[in-house]
Amino acid sequence: MNEAPVSVEPAAGPLGGVVTVPGDKSIAHRAVMLNSMASGVAHINGLPGGLDVGSTVAAMKALGVSIEGSVADGLVVNGRGLALAEPTGPIDCGNSGTTMRLLTGLLAAQPFTCTLVGDASLSQRPMRRVADPLAEMGAEVETSDGHAPLTIRGRGLRAHRHVLEVASAQVKSALILAGMQTDGETAIEQPARSRDHTERMLCAMGVPLDVDGSAVTVNGPATPRAIDVNVCGDPSSAAFFAVAGLIVPGSEVVIDNVCLNPTRTGFLDVLLRMGADLDVKEQGQSGGEPVGSLTVRACALGSFEIEGGEVPATIDELPVLAVAAACGSGRSRIRGARELRAKESDRIAGTVDMLRRLGATVDELDDGMEVQGGGLVGGAIVDCLGDHRLAMSAAVAALVGREPVAIEGASSVAVSFPGFFEMLEGLRA
Ligand code: S3P
Repeated sequence: MNEAPVSVEPAAGPLGGVVTVPGDKSIAHRAVMLNSMASGVAHINGLPGGLDVGSTVAAMKALGVSIEGSVADGLVVNGRGLALAEPTGPIDCGNSGTTMRLLTGLLAAQPFTCTLVGDASLSQRPMRRVADPLAEMGAEVETSDGHAPLTIRGRGLRAHRHVLEVASAQVKSALILAGMQTDGETAIEQPARSRDHTERMLCAMGVPLDVDGSAVTVNGPATPRAIDVNVCGDPSSAAFFAVAGLIVPGSEVVIDNVCLNPTRTGFLDVLLRMGADLDVKEQGQSGGEPVGSLTVRACALGSFEIEGGEVPATIDELPVLAVAAACGSGRSRIRGARELRAKESDRIAGTVDMLRRLGATVDELDDGMEVQGGGLVGGAIVDCLGDHRLAMSAAVAALVGREPVAIEGASSVAVSFPGFFEMLEGLRA
């Protein structure tokens, strides 16, 4: 990458202010995809401007869905029911795992062949986790040695009871989307509960779907009814500001309109266990999701332990929680999080390297890490491996060092949070 690193200065004083983070990426992908498969017209507002959701919008247009308006001002999606159109060429999912995996389930049951491609990072991520369970339903998904490009030869599928080895909302959602187009009951059992936005949205759209703990059953075929969605703020984006406000002495930061779905807010539980001065105010519902505000005030933090069961609800926040751990006291431990190695980058290796460069003592584990609290020094160059969440975690860590931190590959924040650096700067007094 030939871009100049972004330099983030230590905070000279407390952070303060009220921020509104972009709309939730997971909900946004689903609002666009599910309404594309629905009968009726949907108005979708509050979409995040990141490249990932743009990939989903472009993909659905390539599949014949008429989508008007813009991500910034709201989209109007004219649903096609369960019948999409054959695209004229490969569909580019960019950096977005959610786009590629959900589309695979959706296309497996359509009567045409389609190829999905992605950028260098996405082309290294595991795709057998969707291809294999779909094959149990009779689907034909050809991978390139387990990776993208994927060629999906769509056809009629048969219902199946799946028992998943990984708690992955992307895999679960792909199977729900295939099951929704298939005659009979498709059931999915997961080792732990993963984010449930697909289930919530499809229930609101009238699709017969049953949730029992970590198991989901969909009774197909069923065409969703279009629904309007106001996408609430992304808790994964809010987490960066929450940690920033907690670790910079004297700060008070309010984050408005955040999605408080309990399958997403594990990081709040972890921060509270560290002793965070944190208020959560639930203010209502938006599109079947609880929404509210977060207020954080800087305070002395302790340590935490996170193990397997808690990992799905904290998965995208683990890098920034590791930053909080380095700024707390005591030894924090993350276990059972091998999945982090299969994200936009190897986030275990990337987080460990970043924290060490910034002065922390960290042990890398196969499935997590141990972080010794005590503070960060800063004054280093950090390579965020082209991964948006590592770039934003490094920027938060930079606030508490003694010298600026240069972040390489920082333009990656554009996949989920264009404007992140400006919003962070805006909190300086
Ligand atoms: C997502 C699910 C999670 C998460 C990703 C978004 C989704 O991935 O890490 O950022 O929208 O379903 P997995 O399903 O692979 O755990």
